[in-house]
Parts: sequence; structure tokens; C-alpha cells
Amino acid sequence: MLSRFWSIYLFLAIATAQLCENYGFQNGSTCACPTGFGGETCSQPACGGNIFEGIQRSLTPVSNGVANLTQAGCSCQDGWTGTGCNVCQSSNACQAAYASFANTPSNPDVVTGSQGTQNQTLTCNTSPRVWAGSQMSCRVDNPTLQAIYPLTSTLNIIRTLQPSLTPVPNATAFGSAGSVYAHLFYAGVEQFYCAADSCVQNLGSGGDSTDWSCQNLQCTCRPGTTFCGGTVGSNLTNTINGLSGTLGIDCGVVNTTTNTATCNFKQTTLQGLFGLKGLTLNGCSFGECVRQSVIDSNGNVTDTPTEEHMTKPLSGGVIAGLAVVGGLLFVSLLLLLWGCFKQKAARRTRSDDDSGIHVSVEWDNLSYSVLSPDKTAWINSLRRQRGASNDDKVVLDSVSGRVQAGQMMAILGPSGAGKTTLVEILAGKAKSGLVIGTVKFPTGTNNLDAAPHVGFVPQQDILPPTLTVYEALLFAARLRLPENVPDIEKREVVEELMSKLGISSLKNVRIGYNGDVGGGKARGISGGEMRRVSIGLELISRPDILILDEPTSGLDSVSASRIAKVLHAIAHDPVNPIPVIASIHQPSSQLYQSFDSILLLSHGRALYSGPGMFAPSEYFTRTAPGVVPPYLQGYNVADYLLEVASDPHVSLFQLHHSAKDHGDDHGHQDNADITEKGVHTLSEESDLTLNKKRVLTPKRTKYATTFLTQLQFLSGREWKVLQRDKTLFFTHVVVSAILGVFCGGLYFQTDMTIAGFQSRVGCLFFLGALIAFSSLSALYNVVEIRPLFLRERSSMYYSPTAWLLSRFIFDVVPLRLIPTIIVSTITYWMAGLAADAAHYFKFLFILVLYSLAMTLFNFLLGTLFHNGGIAILLSALSALYQMTFAGFFVHLNAIPPVLRWLQWICPLKYTLEALSVNEVGSGLMIEDTLQGVPVSISASLIMNLLFGFGLDNYYRDVLVLFAFIAGFGLGVIGVVWLKVRERR
Ligand SMILES: *[C@@H]1O[C@H](CO)[C@@H](O)[C@H](O)[C@H]1NC(C)=O
Ligand SMILES: *[C@@H]1O[C@H](CO)[C@@H](O)[C@H](O)[C@H]1NC(C)=O
Repeated sequence: MLSRFWSIYLFLAIATAQLCENYGFQNGSTCACPTGFGGETCSQPACGGNIFEGIQRSLTPVSNGVANLTQAGCSCQDGWTGTGCNVCQSSNACQAAYASFANTPSNPDVVTGSQGTQNQTLTCNTSPRVWAGSQMSCRVDNPTLQAIYPLTSTLNIIRTLQPSLTPVPNATAFGSAGSVYAHLFYAGVEQFYCAADSCVQNLGSGGDSTDWSCQNLQCTCRPGTTFCGGTVGSNLTNTINGLSGTLGIDCGVVNTTTNTATCNFKQTTLQGLFGLKGLTLNGCSFGECVRQSVIDSNGNVTDTPTEEHMTKPLSGGVIAGLAVVGGLLFVSLLLLLWGCFKQKAARRTRSDDDSGIHVSVEWDNLSYSVLSPDKTAWINSLRRQRGASNDDKVVLDSVSGRVQAGQMMAILGPSGAGKTTLVEILAGKAKSGLVIGTVKFPTGTNNLDAAPHVGFVPQQDILPPTLTVYEALLFAARLRLPENVPDIEKREVVEELMSKLGISSLKNVRIGYNGDVGGGKARGISGGEMRRVSIGLELISRPDILILDEPTSGLDSVSASRIAKVLHAIAHDPVNPIPVIASIHQPSSQLYQSFDSILLLSHGRALYSGPGMFAPSEYFTRTAPGVVPPYLQGYNVADYLLEVASDPHVSLFQLHHSAKDHGDDHGHQDNADITEKGVHTLSEESDLTLNKKRVLTPKRTKYATTFLTQLQFLSGREWKVLQRDKTLFFTHVVVSAILGVFCGGLYFQTDMTIAGFQSRVGCLFFLGALIAFSSLSALYNVVEIRPLFLRERSSMYYSPTAWLLSRFIFDVVPLRLIPTIIVSTITYWMAGLAADAAHYFKFLFILVLYSLAMTLFNFLLGTLFHNGGIAILLSALSALYQMTFAGFFVHLNAIPPVLRWLQWICPLKYTLEALSVNEVGSGLMIEDTLQGVPVSISASLIMNLLFGFGLDNYYRDVLVLFAFIAGFGLGVIGVVWLKVRERR
């Protein structure tokens, strides 16, 4: 019962409370109204009179439900002005009004009491600065508003700072310290009213201008008025009732001739509609009746802060951004210090000298088969392997052999015999198929803890074309010799090696492109010389074994024999002899004779393995009667062997097998048993692992130098390349300058019309698309440099991360960022975009971020796809996709939901949004005339309508672009580590 009573009471209380307008409140049976209003519901503005008259003031009569000031013909007393006559003009007016108010004891508003001994004389303060509580009245001349509402709009604002100090009655009831009431009149009728609190008054320099900043704004549209649904077609009710948040009232200095000033009424929604300045108020008159003592004591009587602080605090986004950048710098610095420390430590360590150890190579029953997708097929092929039938999937079939230090072995055989495969397996290269068998590296001592260092010279010479021979070798020496070898010694080693290889005369000759690799570029050194440089690159690292794949193919016989001489000298080096294994395609007689031992392969099987010279032919004559020996003086033994191997007599295979089965090869039997057992008894899976385990890959897993050294010399090389290949850099710079002038000319000094807005946006789009397409060259760059990276990586020159970092520094900075900055800067200033430093740098920052993201994206494509054509196609398609989803061609909200999510993974969208927001957020207003109607509207509103871009999204976009950069960067690192490696 009681609760029902309370609820009814509450209902009534709320209902009656709602009857008071203009934020008046219920006081007994009537409404207590703010200054300037009266009547039952506070809906009647004062008509004439002055603000001291309180509830006895004459009010505008209500006719037909509206109180129309113009209709009532209200006119102000002398010394009072403004809509509703609330603004004092002279001190006399204040004094006179106050005197008559004080002499009317019947007036309940009169407060009697001692006013102290200070100067009690009232004065009228007509400056924008508020001492206690001030009235102001302004005209609202906004072209956009006037296009809809052509009659006069005025705005009255009551600003209260210290209610206890104002002599006006009722002030304490309404103005809490720092509050604002505003009332908008249109053609004499109040349309809506607003209130805000927690205001702070900031004084401009000189104290003549003020900035008021208030919180908790609320506005109420008066139903039925012109603005609030009273006329057909325009209804601002939702907009006005939705106004909230922070309210700013900034007033300039009073013009001495008109005694008025210009103010701006700022609120986020209004700023969105009318530009950064919000709603401009003209002809503002200020009037505050205040005691002289209040002014004399400089307003310090109270505790309300009025101190000046014009500097705006940094926004959270800026602070976060600075923190991220600072953190990154700090981390990089730490890493650099750590790298320096490691480098120093590595330079001090002594490495154990293992020059006395002579390594030899033994391989036993080495088989290699290319796995078909179906494993069963392989198992079957393994079963058949023992038989005589040739399975074309088996590339090598139980090949055994041995080379000692100081020996040079040739692996002979026709094409397709498996020479390259064997050589690669011995060199420990990763093979895609399945390897069975053992490769051992006996050293003669027990010191077997480290894997032997195998130098491998591939068939193709992949060399850095821009470097000279000496530089290329020195680069290898610096990265492949241990850190503790001083640089002077490394230089000596290189000089020594060059004379050994007979290329001293080429010291300062650039390598250049050879054959069809480089197309039209200048040719460098010859093929034979290149081959010797390639051999040098391996020898420089002091390998324990040197393995070469067809070192003489493609060379004339003189060059070939020079190579053979070099190899022979290496193998028979008196100080440090090492085993040399080379596959040879078609050796000349002379070349053949330089080899100590021969392994003859045919269809993946070894026909002969033993000493060279005439031994093989004698062996065939002796043991295989079916083979006819066309042995004559002067006949090339190698030709004879190749002839035998290309069409081997059946008896040779049997011979080979019987020799193997009864040979001294004790490891073989064991191995074969396990293989057989695996096939028959074990599951396929464990069978595979069992067999794979038996292969020893002589792979070094440690780099000779520390990360910092790698980065240092890689960067040195990149820098040299950049210096030599000047055209690359200058082309980028010149092209970007020309493009900048072109784009700037296209959009030269765009104006503020609607067409100008389109041009601005078009200009930003142009720049974004330009970056998206021009970063395609980064992709080509990666594709071009990939083979060199693969070779150097497989030879353990440097870690992929060091390579990526050096690429990043020397590709991204000179070829991406500098051109981007040039083109953007020229365009920016020529097109006349927001002409201040902050907006310019924010603009540049976004373009630099986007350029980075796109470069990394193209790096990713370039590393992910072996086929450059596919990568370029994908990159171009992605640029097209980005342009579609950037929001310029299709409104993002108009895309079907199925496809709409694609916009969220479109970096260009974020870039353009940030660029547009930055440009438009500079307070850009569109001033134009549409069919005679002047339009003045904030560009941000148009931007939001046209493209769906949010005004506050700049820092979000920055973060998203950072995320893209991080994502692509990690992707590139991951792909390079896992995927871009040599596979044979
Ligand atoms: C108020 O009265 C004036 C004079 O009669 C009239 O011109 C004006 O339109 C009225 N205002 C409104 C909002 O009706
Ligand atoms: C109070 O201030 C007014 C205005 O400045 C001045 O005219 C008047 O003489 C002052 N009165 C006293 C008592 O100081």
C-alpha cells in the first residue's frame, strides 16, 4: 500500500517537474525559473524590464501556445540590450536597477544583509570575461542553418562562475559555480535550451578573450517549435536532444566600435556539422552587473580556478605512439649493445687448430629414390631394388666408395646416371627424396665431435655481379672465417687464394653478369674465371672436403684443364691436403688423367670404383669378358668409360653385385638386412624413420661469425651495390619527383568548393594507389636476389634474419621511403593541403607506414612464390582489391555483408581514412553555392556520408597499419626461415 502511494507520489513529482521548462524546478506549486524567464512553466521569456526585477518582471504573453518576443513587440529599457533585455550596457543601468530592486522590500527576492566595507558600487562589465555571473546575447549567422531557417536566430547564454558574488536575484539557485545556460530564439520564439556544468574559464593572452570549457551538456528541443518538428520537412529534435559531452564557448576580443565580439559554440556534433569552430556566433554583447570590489580583488575572492593554461594536453593516442616508438628504439639499442658484446667476446676466443686432421670420405650402399606421393609405391620399389629391373624412381642404387685426403676423385657417367645426386648427398644437401645408406668422415683421430666442413661448388655460378672479384672473396672470408681471425689476415688469405686460383689479375674487375642471367647488362669476367671464383668462395672457408658439381661443364678445354690443375693442387697440397670429389660430364684425356680415382656410374649404379688412369679399362677387360676393349694408344679412356656406362653389358651389373656381396664391405650386409627386415616386418612409417636415421648429413649448424658482424658486412655489401648501381636510386628519386610535380599540378591549390573536396580526396587516393603499385619493384628485387641468398644461406654465410635486416635497411630506406617522402611532400604543398606542420607530418607518417606495409607485403609474396610471374600477378590483384575496398569506389556500407568484411583486411582503407581524417580534421569547411543557396558545411560530415570514415579514427588507423607491418614482417621472417632454403 505504502509503496503504491510512493510510486504515485513519485510519478506526480516527475510529472510536475517536467512541466518546468528551461531547467526551472518545482518550488511548491510554482516553478522557480532561471534569470530571464517566468510564467507557470518558465516558458515565457522576459519582455523588457531588467534582470533585477525577478518574478515581478513583465513577461512575453503566450498566444496560440507560443510566446513570441517579436510579436509582443518587447523593447528594452535604456542601458539594457540583447534578446529578452538581459544584457547590461552601462554601470548606471546596473546601479539604477539594483537600487529600485533593493528598495522594494515586498519583492521576495530581496536579500538584506551587510555587504561589508568594500566598494559596493555596481558596475557593468561588458567584456567576455566573467567575474561572477554574466549574460550574453549573440546572432547565429550560419549559411547552412539560414538556408533552412532564413529568419533571425539568436542565442542567449548565461555563464555563472561565482553565484554568491552576483547581485542578481535567484542566481544562487540556478548557477552552481561554473555553469552555463543557453537559449536559442528563432524569430522571437525560443526553440531549444541547453545546460552544462563543471565549467572552467581560460583567459586568452591579455585577459580580453575567454575560452569556456564545460562538461555534461544536455539540450532540450521544445516540441512544436520551428526547429523541433513545427514545420514540415525539417526536424532537428533528435540532433538537438542528442547533443552531449563537452561544450566549449570561445569568445574573441570585443570590437571597440560595435562593442560586440565573435564567439564559437563548440560541441562534437556541431563541429561535425559546421566544422572545427562549431557554430559561429556573431555580434555577441556581454553584460554583467557586478560589484566593483569583486573586480578589484581580481576575482581571487573565491576558490574557482581561473588560471591561464592554453596548452592542450597530449591525446592518449599520441602518448601511446610515442611510447611505442621509444620502446622500439630502446629495445633496438639494447639488442645492438648485446650484439656488440657478443662480437667482442667472439673476437677474443681462441679456436682450436684442427689443420692437422685429415678427413676422408666413405659412403656405403647409398641409395636415393624420389618418393612418389603414394608410399606403397616406394616400398614396392624398394623390394624390387634388389632385383635387376631398373625402377626409374630409384636414382642411386647401393653406391659405395671412398676418397682419402690428398686424393682427387672424378665421378663419371652419362647424363642421368646420378652423378649430381651423389655429389649433393655427399655434400649433405637437403634432398626431397629418400636417402638410404651411410656417409662417414673418418679423421684418423678420435676428435670427431664437430661435423666436418664440406665445401660444395654447385654447377651454376651465382655471384654478386656488382662486386669485384676481390670484394666477393673478401666478403666470403669475412663471414666464413671465424671471428677471431683479424681482418688483415683475412685480406692476406684472399690475396693468397687468388694467386693460387690464378685470378690475381682480375682483382679489381667486377664480376658482372654472365650468359643469359643478366640480359643486357655489361659482361664481366669469363665463365672459367667465374668458376674459379666460385671455387675460391668455398676454399676460403678452409673446408675439410671439397665437392664440386660438374666444375668443367660449359668451359673450353683450356679453361677446364686450368680448373683441373687448381683442383689437383688443392688435393695434393703439401701442408693441408683435402679430398676433392668432382662429378665430370665429359672430360678430355688430359683432364681425365689429373684424377687419382674414378667412380663410374650408370643408371644409378656404380660400375667401377677404384684408381684412375688406365686401371678401369684394364679392370673391365679382365673381369667382364663380354665388354670389348677398343683400347688403343691415344684413345681417351674417359670416352671409353662413358661408352661402357651409357649402354652397360648385363654381365657388368652382375659383376658389380657379386663383387659387392662378397667384398670386404662389412657394413653392407648389416644394412641390407635391416632394410629387408624393415620392408617385411615393420610398418611403413617406422620403416621410413629407421632408414632415414642411417644417413649422416655433414652439416654445420653454426655460423662462423656473430649476428652483428653478419649484419655489418651484409650492409657494407648492400651499400656498395647501391653506390655502384646509382641509376637505381636516382631513377627512383627522379621518377618520384616527376610524379610529385605531376600530381601536384593535377590538384594544384585545390579550393574549398565541393569540386575541390573531390580533388583533395582524389589526390590522397592517387598517392595511396601510387605506393601500392610502385612497391611492386620490391617484389622484383627479392625475386632477383633470391638465388644468391639461397647459395649463401646453404653455405652458412649468414643467418636469414641478418640478410632480411640488411635488405630492409638498404632497400626500404633508399628505394621506398625516400621516394615516398619526395612525392608526398611535393604533392602536399602543391595541392595546398592543410598547411601546417602537424598535419603535414601526420600525413607523411601515414604514407611512410603504408609504404612499409606494402614493401613488406611484396617481400612476402616474393619469398613465398618461386615463380616471380605469379607473385607479380598476385601483388597487382591485391592492389586492385585494396583500391576497391578503400571506400572511394564503393561506399563501405553498401557492399553486401558477405563481402563487407574484406574491408577490414585492406591496408589502403586505413591509410586513406587516416589521410582524409587528417586533412578534413584540420577544420576544412566546404563553402559552395548550390542552385543559389550558399552552403557552408564541414568536410568531415561529407567525408563520413560519402566514404563512411570516422573523424576520430586517425590513431586507430595508425595502430592498424603498425599491426599490418608487424604481421607482414613476421610473415616474411617466417617464410624466409622455413621456406626459402635450398632444396635439391
Ligand atoms: C513571431 O512573430 C513575428 C511577428 O509577428 C513573426 O514574423 C514570426 O514569424 C513569429 N515567429 C514564429 C516562430 O512564428
Ligand atoms: C567604487 O568604484 C566606483 C567605480 O570604479 C567609483 O566610481 C567609486 O568612487 C568607488 N567608491 C568607493 C567608496 O571607493
